[in-house]
Amino acid sequence: MKTQVGIIGGGPSGLLLSQLLHLQGIETVVLEQHSREYVLGRIRAGVLEHGFAALMREAQVAERMDREGEIHDGFYIAHDGIKDRVDLKGLTGGNSVVVYGQTEVTRDLYDGRDKLGGIVIHNAEDVKPHDLESAHPYLTYRQGDEVKRIDCDYVIGCDGFHGVSRKSIPKDKIREFERVYPFGWLGVLSRTKPVSPELIYAKHERGFALCSLRSQVLSRYYIQVPLTDTVEQWTDELFWAELKRRLPADVASQLITGASIEKSIAPLRSFVVEPMRFGNLFLAGDAAHIVPPTGARGLNSAASDIYYLYHALVDHYKKHDDSGLDGYSAKALARVWKGQRFSWWMTTTLHRFPEGSDFDGRLQDTELAYLFSSPKALASLAENYVGLPF
Ligand code: APR
Ligand code: PHB
Repeated sequence: MKTQVGIIGGGPSGLLLSQLLHLQGIETVVLEQHSREYVLGRIRAGVLEHGFAALMREAQVAERMDREGEIHDGFYIAHDGIKDRVDLKGLTGGNSVVVYGQTEVTRDLYDGRDKLGGIVIHNAEDVKPHDLESAHPYLTYRQGDEVKRIDCDYVIGCDGFHGVSRKSIPKDKIREFERVYPFGWLGVLSRTKPVSPELIYAKHERGFALCSLRSQVLSRYYIQVPLTDTVEQWTDELFWAELKRRLPADVASQLITGASIEKSIAPLRSFVVEPMRFGNLFLAGDAAHIVPPTGARGLNSAASDIYYLYHALVDHYKKHDDSGLDGYSAKALARVWKGQRFSWWMTTTLHRFPEGSDFDGRLQDTELAYLFSSPKALASLAENYVGLPF
């Protein structure tokens, strides 16, 4: 098989790029190692910045997001028994975020690919990129006993943190930057009315907690836990009791609890690889960088990669202009690092660090005291949360 752009990974990054390019008449093939059901079974975060929402509209897959997603003009930071509001709309001159599950984003993208007849090959095993430094790279994959080959002009690695793309780059050609945090998030999804119409990020001496939602009947809550904890250890009862302890009393008293329908522990990590290109392989999304979820930047950091690559590939094919492709890595990394900085800041300000000193604790308190006494500091937080311009 032959195509113009071979995309590894059928998560939101790969599907969105494929959809946008298809609409411009550029051929793509997406190779995904899992089944569609498996990909759609993963529960992921649910805050979309306005720039990502705009890309979904450009990709003609935003109808349900615009109908069912909730526009959030603000969120709360709870600390010291109170909650302070961050007025995103007021502080950014009218910007907001859309609360809409990433799983739903992926579902809409699959529907969009189906409607246009896009090629997404599922259960592609042993995907391997070849001859990446040549003008004729190709991909191989296995389906059952058969090994297949796809020739392409470019390979785009959208295969997440554990994918094969980044690992195909010789170690001496890239540099990795990483911070692993000494805790994880235990997340619970429950069919209950959310405790607050807007998200609450809570800093507490027992550890961080987050009240989020997917809709007015579906809640998503998280608590910071040691990395050694297991899901089995956390019965629903223990989870709700611990969540309540970490919330201001008036919030805790309103919390409606119920059976969990999903429960998982995710470690927190910051990671960036530089550069995001090797020959004719371009990395995008989680394949190139991941953030701890505290700033809601994960998918939103992927969005700018896709935006830059989309325009660079359109310029290449339609105008024979390669400046976008040549400048991709530097441009993408400039925004990626700003997302990293913000996610690191939210994480260090709001979590309890097991090895943290009294001095560190005072600095955390002072960060929040400064934030809520300075409209300029608050505006900076809001600007980052709604998403910096692409
Ligand atoms: N071959 C083919 N597909 C692969 C391979 C491989 N070797 N390895 C991984 N994949 C697939 C995964 O099964 C997954 O469906 O690549 C896809 C990667 O998707 P995501 O991990 O969702 O990454 P991405 O599309 O970049 O999404 C952006 O930002 O913080 C996150 O949670 C957020 O997942 C979201 C991400
Ligand atoms: C979520 O709803 O899953 C969510 C929301 C905001 C975050 C992280 C996760 O910062």
